[in-house]
Amino acid sequence: MKKILILLLSLFAFSIQSCYYDNEEELYPQITDGCDTTNVTYSNNVQKIISSRCLGCHSDASYKDYGGGVALEGYNNLKSSADNGGLIGTITHNPDYSAMPKGANKLDDCKIEQIKIWVAQGAKNN
Ligand code: HEC
Repeated sequence: MKKILILLLSLFAFSIQSCYYDNEEELYPQITDGCDTTNVTYSNNVQKIISSRCLGCHSDASYKDYGGGVALEGYNNLKSSADNGGLIGTITHNPDYSAMPKGANKLDDCKIEQIKIWVAQGAKNN
């Protein structure tokens, strides 16, 4: 767990520098194995994960009845959840949060990693 945090922190630091993409393979071999962590964006990665695993309960139409009043559809809603820690807390099964997706398998490590990267890079609307 500590290792992942350190990797994330260095990833964040390196993402600010332009050399980040050149070095990515060497720096994060265990995370990048079979998992594309380059160029993680809301529109290409995060939105699809949320849409397939979360919006059944957290869409605009469903969140009041099935999502505990937490709306995650659209960038602004997801950004709020990223900023208040709920998004990462729930998908990593942090005991301070309700584990998500509720009643279903945890997201696979690659998807969790991509969402963490997206949040660490500022949860941008990209
Ligand atoms: C089967 C319905 C269902 C699915 C699917 C689901 N949720 Fe939830 N979610 C809920 C309910 C209900 C709550 C209210 C808290 C509770 O009952 O655990 C909740 C609460 C939350 C909260 C606030 C919890 C807190 O502790 O602050 C977040 C954030 C959240 N969900 C994110 C997600 C994400 C991200 C996914 C997809 C990976 C997801 N949920 C999938 C039903 C669901």
